[in-house]
Amino acid sequence: SQTPLKVAVTGAAGQIGYSLLFRLASGSLLGPDRPIELRLLEITPALKALEGVVMELDDCAFPTLAGVEIGDDAEKIFDGVNLALLVGARPRGPGMERGDLLSANGAIFTAQGKALNNVAADDVRIGVTGNPANTNALIAMTNAPDIPQERFSALTRLDHNRAISQLAAKTGASVTDIKKMTIWGNHSATQYPDLFHAEVKGQNAAEAVGDQDWLENTFIPTVAKRGAAIIEARGSSSAASAASATVDAARDWLHGSAENDWVSMAVVSDGSYGVPEGLISSFPVTTKDGNWEIVQGLEIDDFSRARIDASTAELADERAAVTELGLI
Ligand code: NAI
Repeated sequence: SQTPLKVAVTGAAGQIGYSLLFRLASGSLLGPDRPIELRLLEITPALKALEGVVMELDDCAFPTLAGVEIGDDAEKIFDGVNLALLVGARPRGPGMERGDLLSANGAIFTAQGKALNNVAADDVRIGVTGNPANTNALIAMTNAPDIPQERFSALTRLDHNRAISQLAAKTGASVTDIKKMTIWGNHSATQYPDLFHAEVKGQNAAEAVGDQDWLENTFIPTVAKRGAAIIEARGSSSAASAASATVDAARDWLHGSAENDWVSMAVVSDGSYGVPEGLISSFPVTTKDGNWEIVQGLEIDDFSRARIDASTAELADERAAVTELGLI
């Protein structure tokens, strides 16, 4: 039998963790034939709750789950990991300013970047779900100088999936009829879900919709503010869908995106499409064998240009703020 893939999950006792761990353990990531070993990191006060989650993992008797280790020491948990899903983050508390949030998360992602740099496997891939995801990924990447920069990405796959779902509902197509969706920029309200390059049954999506008002005033804000709508309805933030997107993103990264399609991933910019170099910004990418490439040659009209620029300006501001805090 094959050696297990070692997968680290941080914030494993949290909401997303409660969905994510069971998806990972049941084979959603690698299929039924490749075992995985879970390495679960939490802060000390959450370890008891995490022990309860591990009891439930045991009780599922998943054939693909080769082992589980838990702890609060990143250097121990990340030792030899092939994939690290950084989900745990500090939520914004009452009265917390943006700067407080960035420094609290900065401390977490600085330490985790250093630990990964020291002990992760040579082939490690790191996906950041915890918010502010793009800037947390930038902080981890900057603090892991020996890990190639292209091994870091931040999650915009949930936004991508939300955009596909909204477009399918509008056009009466099924989600599998929709290809080439793109989320550009930051995983925040400034993100730009782009219908000008997407396709519905092979037809350009903006043309298939034929309704600029819907695109501009319904589609884009619905996708960008979906997280808030879920909090409003459910009383807590999206968790199962975030876990599902985390699995989708990691699976496609390791196994490859589909022919004639692409996915959205926030990755380090090489300056493509005028996105300032070094920012972790969402792009259309194709993936293969653990590597990604930004899709090149898309024509960007003035409408899209303005939106991409607005979101990447926000990312540049976040970078300036964490630079000022001495985190990168
Ligand atoms: P949660 O608050 O239920 O769980 C977070 C867990 O992280 C907690 O158990 C906490 O103890 C743990 N944690 C905090 N600091 C840690 C550290 N230094 N090391 C290890 N664990 C640590 O939050 P939830 O709902 O699971 O969400 C997690 C993160 O994902 C949040 O930042 C949330 O904003 C973000 N998120 C991102 C999405 C995306 O699309 N990128 C979508 C939805 C949520």
